Amino acid sequence: MTSFIIKKGTVVDPLREKVFPADVLVVGGRIAAIGPGLAGQKETTVINAEGCLVLPGLIDMHVHLREPGFEHKETIASGTRAALRGGFTAVCAMPNTRPVCDRAAVAGFVLDRARAAGNARVYPVGALSKGSEGKELAPFGEMRDAGVVAFSDDGRWLADAHLMRRAMEYAAMLDVPVISHCEDPALSAGGVMNEGFTATILGLRGMPAAAEEVAVARDILLAELTGCHLHVAHVSTAGAVRLIREAKARGVRVTAEVTPHHFTLTEEAVRGYDTNAKVNPPLRTAADVAALKEGLADGTIDVIATDHAPHSREEKETEFDAAPFGMVGLETAVGLVFTELVSPGVLTLPQAVAKMTVNPARILRLEAGVLAEGAVADITLVDPEREEVVEPERFASQGKNTAFGGWQLKGTPVGVMVGGRWFEVRPSGKRLPGKKR
Ligand code: DOR
Repeated sequence: MTSFIIKKGTVVDPLREKVFPADVLVVGGRIAAIGPGLAGQKETTVINAEGCLVLPGLIDMHVHLREPGFEHKETIASGTRAALRGGFTAVCAMPNTRPVCDRAAVAGFVLDRARAAGNARVYPVGALSKGSEGKELAPFGEMRDAGVVAFSDDGRWLADAHLMRRAMEYAAMLDVPVISHCEDPALSAGGVMNEGFTATILGLRGMPAAAEEVAVARDILLAELTGCHLHVAHVSTAGAVRLIREAKARGVRVTAEVTPHHFTLTEEAVRGYDTNAKVNPPLRTAADVAALKEGLADGTIDVIATDHAPHSREEKETEFDAAPFGMVGLETAVGLVFTELVSPGVLTLPQAVAKMTVNPARILRLEAGVLAEGAVADITLVDPEREEVVEPERFASQGKNTAFGGWQLKGTPVGVMVGGRWFEVRPSGKRLPGKKR
């Protein structure tokens, strides 16, 4: 049986909030032991993790892999390679493909392609409504049986409150969460950035914070009515954080995520009309960024997810109004979390790791996200001291559309293990890859 020993690393346990030096022994794709001074067999491959953090495999629960239908932006193979290079062992694939993932056959296709690619794990998300058109519910039961882990019309809000109520009732029955892209289209219509002073100066049409908050408020009320688990995608405003905090205090089953671009950048990034800064929801104000960080710190926001949204160069190299929304995120997330949240003390290391491992795993009901004896060996190695300049040309993703090109980030994924398969994801010098002992 193939075996590995990850030597001399620092293990981060997000469940018990512990950080401690230990070796990790992996046998036959599972974690066999965690402890000091472990020894393997003669044929055990040694991975020297000195100076590295050994984390449960990171999970990104909000990724656009674009296949089927938009392979000029990304494929399941390229997107899952980008996931590995970014330190992620698993991603959720959003359903806004062509065709939309609104039935078992499409979910099955995504899973087949992911298996063939053999990179990070892929968990498909099924659409709430057929074609994500907001008119008729998609077949939840068959999609759940095919392996979808959540339902969402991501990219759009299900504006029909009655249909959303029914969707939540079915989802609650199946014990599958509903992920809502909270944006009232009547309020955001025509907008391309955050509404406010900067938009006025730039002569661009704005999307008000209220477009998000109205939608969050309604969905919280429907979650309360139905008992459904509501997960709010890409929270971007202070008001949305407040609504979620209040709902949690009332006992509503609601969880939420924030993206690295929303906790790092403000609408100021749009000055210069950089289409890479055109995202939906839009980058907001400094006060919103501060509120997102508070929400992360006090637990209102459970998850960090990237909303990795690759687009081709041709699509993004156009005037601001015409460019599509979205930014890639898989290969900058770990660097941004370490640089923007862990280093300045917004989150402790175990808190940050929890938001990328055990918390998304719990929301999606996955047996993943922890390092424990007997668990599947999904492991991420991060060198917290290693600095890297973001070079989009080096991304494994086909999408180079990032607003972080040229940024220097500290905290770099160096290797990942998926079910006992080892991938070195950065050139190693003397540290990696594993050598026979
Ligand atoms: O920026 C975004 N891009 N936000 C979304 O909600 C959808 C996504 C996409 O699919 O490109």
